[in-house]
Amino acid sequence: MKTNLLLLLALACLLAGPHAQAQRQQQLFNSGWKFHRGDAPGAEKPTADDRAWRALTLPHDWSIEEPFSEQWASATGYLPGGVGWYRKAFVVPAGYRGKQVFIYFDGVYKNSEVWLNGHFLGKRPSGFASFQYELTPYLSAKGPNVLAVKADHREVADSRWYTGSGIYRNVYLLATAPVHVQQWGVGFTTPQVSARAATGQVAVALTNGAATAAAVTVAGALLDAKGQVVATAQQVVQLKAKANGAARLTLLLKNPALWSAAQPNLYRLRVRLAVAGQPVDEVTEEVGVRSIRFDANQGFFLNEQPTKLRGVCIHDDAGALGVAVPPEVWERRLRALKAVGCNALRMSHNPHADYLYRLCDELGFLVMDEAFDEWERGKNKWVAGWNVGTPSQAGAHEYFKEWGDRDLRDMVLRNRNRPSIIMWSIGNEIDYPNDPYTHEVLNTGRNPQIYGKGYLPGHPPAAEMGPLAKRLVAVVKQADGSRPVTAALAGVVMSNLTDYPAALDLVGYNYQEFRYPADHKEYPQRIIYGSENGMAPAAWAAVDSNAYVSAQYLWTGIDYLGEAGKWPQRANGAGLLDLAGFPKPEYYFRQSLWTSAPMLYLAAAEAPAAGAPAGRRPRGTATWNWPAASQVRVTAYTTNEATELLLNGQSLGRQTGPLPTWTVPFAAGELRARGYRNNQVVSEVVLKTAGAPTALQLKADRTSLSASALGLAQIEVQVVDQAGNPVPDAAPEITVALTGPARLLGIESGDLASHEPYAAPRHRAHRGRLLLYVQATGAGAVGVALAAPGLAGQAVALRAE
Ligand code: GAL
Repeated sequence: MKTNLLLLLALACLLAGPHAQAQRQQQLFNSGWKFHRGDAPGAEKPTADDRAWRALTLPHDWSIEEPFSEQWASATGYLPGGVGWYRKAFVVPAGYRGKQVFIYFDGVYKNSEVWLNGHFLGKRPSGFASFQYELTPYLSAKGPNVLAVKADHREVADSRWYTGSGIYRNVYLLATAPVHVQQWGVGFTTPQVSARAATGQVAVALTNGAATAAAVTVAGALLDAKGQVVATAQQVVQLKAKANGAARLTLLLKNPALWSAAQPNLYRLRVRLAVAGQPVDEVTEEVGVRSIRFDANQGFFLNEQPTKLRGVCIHDDAGALGVAVPPEVWERRLRALKAVGCNALRMSHNPHADYLYRLCDELGFLVMDEAFDEWERGKNKWVAGWNVGTPSQAGAHEYFKEWGDRDLRDMVLRNRNRPSIIMWSIGNEIDYPNDPYTHEVLNTGRNPQIYGKGYLPGHPPAAEMGPLAKRLVAVVKQADGSRPVTAALAGVVMSNLTDYPAALDLVGYNYQEFRYPADHKEYPQRIIYGSENGMAPAAWAAVDSNAYVSAQYLWTGIDYLGEAGKWPQRANGAGLLDLAGFPKPEYYFRQSLWTSAPMLYLAAAEAPAAGAPAGRRPRGTATWNWPAASQVRVTAYTTNEATELLLNGQSLGRQTGPLPTWTVPFAAGELRARGYRNNQVVSEVVLKTAGAPTALQLKADRTSLSASALGLAQIEVQVVDQAGNPVPDAAPEITVALTGPARLLGIESGDLASHEPYAAPRHRAHRGRLLLYVQATGAGAVGVALAAPGLAGQAVALRAE
């Protein structure tokens, strides 16, 4: 009898599926929300009438839906902020009975306040923080329950870049048993790593929400890519009633598949809790086994291999989509960055969406995660251009005193298991001279380009930064002692006279390559690297030719909304990729610096007048459409030994080296380049003079979409001539018609000055190109048809299933 019962129990467990399903339940909580733009006093009450509110699915950014206007701030992309309300009515799923229920927001911009059934759950000023509230005490088992969220972004010039507004990241509903792993409660580090063996340390933070004590078995297991368990450990923890506790497990792993940027091998860490033999909770995390080490003389080592960090800085937005960006968009962008030789990202200047870190783990990027752009004191936010007019001082400093430590700690706890993250940054350019901190040294004229106004006694003293930095570093170390803490310094001359740099493990220099040799000598223990850099070859040479400098992070990987120049510019064009994710000529130039496989790109520009000063980096575009009789400067960006240029079959000569240049009298036809290594042709590119535009070419990154995951297709549109050549300056207005279960999420041309509404079904091409974002809304066949006056239409068929 007893045996039968046990068998039955085992069978029941099997039928119930994996333990996680039986115990912890988590669901994406993005659908079925209602939205009201503007204030709606009383909307937190469950009885409030939201029938006239707009129904939508998160993530959602209301700023991007509204018109650009000069009345808003250049800093935030000439888009509005304001107040918005969200509500969602839901019934608690049957399986949640007896559980503790939580709501998790990955990010709400900003000043969010959340209520459940009229009960205030809490506020979160930061628009970049992720946070969770417990719902259990206010939940009605019968339902319906009403969640209400207010976001207040009335202070629109509150950031130096575009932030968007609203619930712009994922929301999750979570249910756990009373005995469970806390939020971000699993920590994984690899203190010892070699090719033969590794030690994984697992720290588990536990809660017993029940009224009785519990002996909890905490079992950790590491699973390899095939799902095989390769290491295990367990511990029993005695938890009192309504009390917290902790477990520490050590996992020993033989012949680990190490994580690196080149081979981003991942493991799954599974932590299971059981009480009296019954499973009560399970958490799994993607983790990596790798070692990191920075050295003041030798630079950075990943798994003991010296590694240069070829990095770019990024902001959160993706042009047309604002900051509500589906993961596919970042995946496409990251793959393009990989191909340029980039192996490092800087999450400037705030924590980013959760999935972006996952993509970095999976694709192999070494990440600097960054918390702040300002601490207790505000920086200038330009309102009517850039470095002009009267700036706004509003911003994150307003809630730093109350929330700074918490926001920082939460960033670290949320992301600490990401193998991709190799350093935590507590701030960007906090020490920007006179913006706001000042010091007498600014009168000495060193570094004049940013020390322009000299010492401004009315400003806060630079000495304030040291003690603050020490406190923030301690906050990080308490949450994660396994990675170095850094900051990106702008006023190094000034900061060197404070305690700030010495408080850091790594000192990032923004745009100050010229200081590396002197500071390396003066502070031999200091680990110096480039935390933000310009595109000039010299800035890379400072990394490439100095063993002690491990990194550069270019400003920036991708064009971004805001930090715009004067109206009508809506965005900043510093990127290697444009707002649509199309590579710019700078992209190929960077590829020639950062990669070694054969590559060749032709950049053509009108030849400068005789005696004109040489720029700091070459310029040009891959086009062969020039006015008759013009002289064209053709530069090859290449990694090859030699390049030969041919105009309409006639050789213009072979040149060696990385940046061969020819001045060519323009003749329509075909400009061809051949790249050589060991006298063998290894690359070939052709530019053809394009005729009048006649058609559109479409390239979808995928034709099969997941209906349940609201899959996204990104469709590149190219205007071509009769022979299929890209037409470089074509800017026809293109109309998009969709059929089937899909919506046009946005259209982006990359034009920094375009004010066309993003979600409208028509848009002007820019440089002959356009990008469409088409998102599945259900299952079925989806048709995307494009038309433009005078051009042959085109269609692409997608399938959502
Ligand atoms: C840097 C700053 C960045 C961005 C950039 C623009 O000084 O850290 O956030 O403003 O300048 O060039």
